[in-house]
Amino acid sequence: MNKQGLDDLCDRIAELIIKSKRIVVFTGAGISTESGIPDFRSPGGIWERFDPDDFTYQKFLGDAAARQKQWRLLRQLNLTAEPNPAHHAIAGLYRLGKLDCVITQNVDSLHQAAGVPDDRVFELHGNTQWAVCLGCHRRYPFGRVVAELDGDEEIPDCEACHGILKPDAVFFGEPLPQDVLNRAVSRSCDCDLFIVIGSTLTVYPAAYMPVYALDSGARLVIVNLSDTPMDKQAEVLVRAKAGEAMTVVLQKVEEKIG
Ligand code: APR
Repeated sequence: MNKQGLDDLCDRIAELIIKSKRIVVFTGAGISTESGIPDFRSPGGIWERFDPDDFTYQKFLGDAAARQKQWRLLRQLNLTAEPNPAHHAIAGLYRLGKLDCVITQNVDSLHQAAGVPDDRVFELHGNTQWAVCLGCHRRYPFGRVVAELDGDEEIPDCEACHGILKPDAVFFGEPLPQDVLNRAVSRSCDCDLFIVIGSTLTVYPAAYMPVYALDSGARLVIVNLSDTPMDKQAEVLVRAKAGEAMTVVLQKVEEKIG
């Protein structure tokens, strides 16, 4: 996309943001690739290197070797990554009073690290900041558990009850946190502008959120490097890197607000 084309599209997004009152930003793994965390379905993404069938809740519960594999993948995902310009631009919208909330599929908590308050980030797929005991529900800092996972060490179990420790991320086949899902659905239905950034919109129920927003009369914006099933319903569609596009969008919103 040429610079002028991107500038015009970002100007249209900024206009929509200025006119809107309840703005929801919905993010997927694509917003964190510029922080060095691979996404799942781009060429070279995680599902080209790992088999998603190994990452089901059932396998985690029933197979110690599968648990090792899942802990190791999440340890890679939970790199000491830093928020990138896209995360900072979204936090900038919040500071301008132009963000109701972020609904994210990501487990890296980079939106909070960039400055969006925790109560304005709905992590549909949990996060990798904590591990939880499936027996007594005691929580442990994720870093402390993976620190013990050097070499081929067995994954530590719960100090209190010796139950299985599981990362607080949602695995395939595992129900999403109901309260978080309910609040995300409600905010998607109430918003007047829904901005999708860095997602293929192919995993449900997360991918229903933009549908709820459209059905409730909201306008849709998509910033994504590849096609999504909802591209045709987007009022503005930007095929550009999230960091570049959202930085320009924030600059234009700041200019327009004066
Ligand atoms: N800027 C914009 N878009 C990007 C960028 C970038 N820098 N990098 C990647 N993308 C786009 C890719 O083109 C792709 O369309 O982001 C999208 C990422 O899609 P997925 O890898 O499918 O990630 P996501 O949509 O978040 O996956 C949803 O699937 O495996 C499960 O639980 C996992 O939460 C994840 C869910």
